[in-house]
Amino acid sequence: MADHAVPTHAGGEEEPTRRDFIYIATGAVGAVGAAALVWPFIDQMSPAADTLALASSEYDLGQVPEGQQVVIFWRKQPVFIRHRTAAEIAAAQKDDAAPMRDPQTDAQRTVQSNGQAGKAQFLIVQAACTHFGCIPTFGGGSFGGWLCACHGSVYDTAARIRSGPAPLNLVLPPYVYSSDTVVKIG
Ligand code: FES
Repeated sequence: MADHAVPTHAGGEEEPTRRDFIYIATGAVGAVGAAALVWPFIDQMSPAADTLALASSEYDLGQVPEGQQVVIFWRKQPVFIRHRTAAEIAAAQKDDAAPMRDPQTDAQRTVQSNGQAGKAQFLIVQAACTHFGCIPTFGGGSFGGWLCACHGSVYDTAARIRSGPAPLNLVLPPYVYSSDTVVKIG
């Protein structure tokens, strides 16, 4: 698997302008706002959910309804946990052999860090766009996945980069399933 470290700015590319940084900052605030919207919804299902997610790297996936995602924080970085629909999984698997900038199959996008297969219905990825770190939003772009509004990077339903300037797929955090419904991140 390719090294998915978030790229730092390297020579040969244009330096981000002050306006870019302002936009990036705005994107980060937007992400916090999105998380704030998610938690009250999750709270209704399990009052202790937000506390658990913030205090521990373990998360109960049973709290994420199909077709929804939550944003949790691991090492102070936002992580998407998306409960994918059958259509989202099928769309990702259909494109496994399509030309991509950072080729990975859908199975590789859901693999546990111990090398064992994960769960196709749960996609767990770090939320920072691999371009300059804005937080993409789900439901935008032409691949049914995420759109990063900062500079137009489009990710598919496996969070693979499909168009726009981002060089890599959204990064997988290390995780293993500690039970059938609980994932331990980190
Ligand atoms: S930060 Fe530039 S496209 Fe996402």
